[in-house]
Amino acid sequence: MENLDWKNLPFGYIKTDYNVRCTYKDGKWGKMEVSDSEYINLHMACTALHYGQEAFEGMKAYRGKDGKIRLFRWDENANRLQQSAEGVLMEKVPMDIFREAIIKAVKLNEKFVPPYGTGASLYIRPMLFGSGAEVGVRPAKEYMFIVFVTPVGPYFKEGFNPVKIAIIRDSDRAAPLGTGTFKVGGNYAASLRGVIKAHNAGYGSPMYLDTKEKHYIDEIGAANFFAIKDNTYITPKSSSILASITNKSIIQLAEDLGLKVERRPIAVEELETFEEVGACGTAAVISPIGEINDLDMGKIYRYCPDGKPGKLSTKLYQTLVGIQYGDVEDKHGWITIVE
Ligand code: PLP
Ligand code: COI
Repeated sequence: MENLDWKNLPFGYIKTDYNVRCTYKDGKWGKMEVSDSEYINLHMACTALHYGQEAFEGMKAYRGKDGKIRLFRWDENANRLQQSAEGVLMEKVPMDIFREAIIKAVKLNEKFVPPYGTGASLYIRPMLFGSGAEVGVRPAKEYMFIVFVTPVGPYFKEGFNPVKIAIIRDSDRAAPLGTGTFKVGGNYAASLRGVIKAHNAGYGSPMYLDTKEKHYIDEIGAANFFAIKDNTYITPKSSSILASITNKSIIQLAEDLGLKVERRPIAVEELETFEEVGACGTAAVISPIGEINDLDMGKIYRYCPDGKPGKLSTKLYQTLVGIQYGDVEDKHGWITIVE
């Protein structure tokens, strides 16, 4: 792919050669199919389009110095897609179908896996949705599972440099007993107003507070929030945030480094007391935060006084990315080599 500028890839869609599809119909999953079309033929009354019966995943394939392609904790994504499926009453994708589909999609598009050292990776987007027609509000009887891939660069244009975040108080992405813990499309539609409000104010992403009291930090647009103080890694406990696989992994790495870990409600005012703060997720990796503006309250919290990411965030970032690209020993068995 000599015409791709690997070092300057955006986090966006670039067409690749193939995608992989599997349909659930008449009570069973069908044959896995490979398609070279970017389009799908959909029934206009399918539940995905009317009632948002849809879920997706986001994961990456990384090319190491040795040329090998690595997947990071794919089983966690497979599991989470099953939980999301349960959350909106869809047929679950069996683990073996998930695994076969992602590996097939990566291998068929191998030339799009960015070279080692470019900072880019191949984003893998598995998606599951109700493809059967219904007009009453009820689960579909047919489902489509599709995996496409696209090469991506950093989610935030800043890369591993401090980003600016805006607290949004006049819209919510998820309710406490709603679908916030599932990776379903509706949460992202609900977040669009916040995302655009943050962007228009000059910020990279919105930060959501808990919807009930607007007192505790929930998460950042498409990433979890973490903070560090007194040698402790602190991250929100909430019933409306996505269980980030990146965050779960960083918690393990923080423990390996001898940090204490706290998963608990974090009040907004606590932002005043943190030494380092950041956003984490597959797309965001670890993005240090330099500023959080509580737009409606007219209050700004500032971090990274020298303009550089904090020491512990940097260490965690280097370890995580090092494991993903195969430069740091994979002590926890998180990597699967695509063969
Ligand atoms: N929170 C939200 C709302 C997300 O969309 C994502 C992205 O997947 C995350 C958190 C981070 O999760 P993960 O680390 O599993 O990618
Ligand atoms: C991911 O990190 O995979 C995400 O979900 C981000 C995406 C919504 C852009």
